[in-house]
Amino acid sequence: MTTTSKIGSSPASKEGETRRDFMVVLASATAGVGAVATVWPFIDSLNPAADVLALASTEVDISAVQPGQAITVMWRGKPVFIRRRTEQEITEAENTKLSDLPDPEKDTDRVKKGEEQWLVVVGVCTHLGCVPISNQGEYNGWFCPCHGSHYDISGRIRKGPAPKNLAVPPYKFTSETTILIG
Ligand code: FES
Repeated sequence: MTTTSKIGSSPASKEGETRRDFMVVLASATAGVGAVATVWPFIDSLNPAADVLALASTEVDISAVQPGQAITVMWRGKPVFIRRRTEQEITEAENTKLSDLPDPEKDTDRVKKGEEQWLVVVGVCTHLGCVPISNQGEYNGWFCPCHGSHYDISGRIRKGPAPKNLAVPPYKFTSETTILIG
């Protein structure tokens, strides 16, 4: 499935809340040994079936993405940014001193070897979960307008309250023009 529409800034999913709710249910249900037999079918029903796991991957056609352009696709309910970087942007990202980074990480550790022009990151701000805006901010990467976090063209946090770099999801190239995320 390919999605190229831009996603607006909004709080991320309530995954954490749902998980907490689940833990409360689990803790209550396992309070008595006798209750375990009752709760097990419920827990087992939460294990995803094989067909659901298959949907956990998103295949994206990147053939139309131009150098300097970033697109947004959805993967497991989250936005993922795919950016095609120019030679100049790659050089800049690779030459950034680690001592300048709040969350030091080499650019080469965030991209696939031989595919340095492609950056793939989860589009969820690591501060409080807003969706940053592409090609904006002081480092021309992403800017999160919620509280002013600036990410560079490697998706690394450079300025603002976000503590970590944008996460790199698992992905691979299935052809020269197709990426499989997940
Ligand atoms: S959520 Fe992005 S800066 Fe606060």
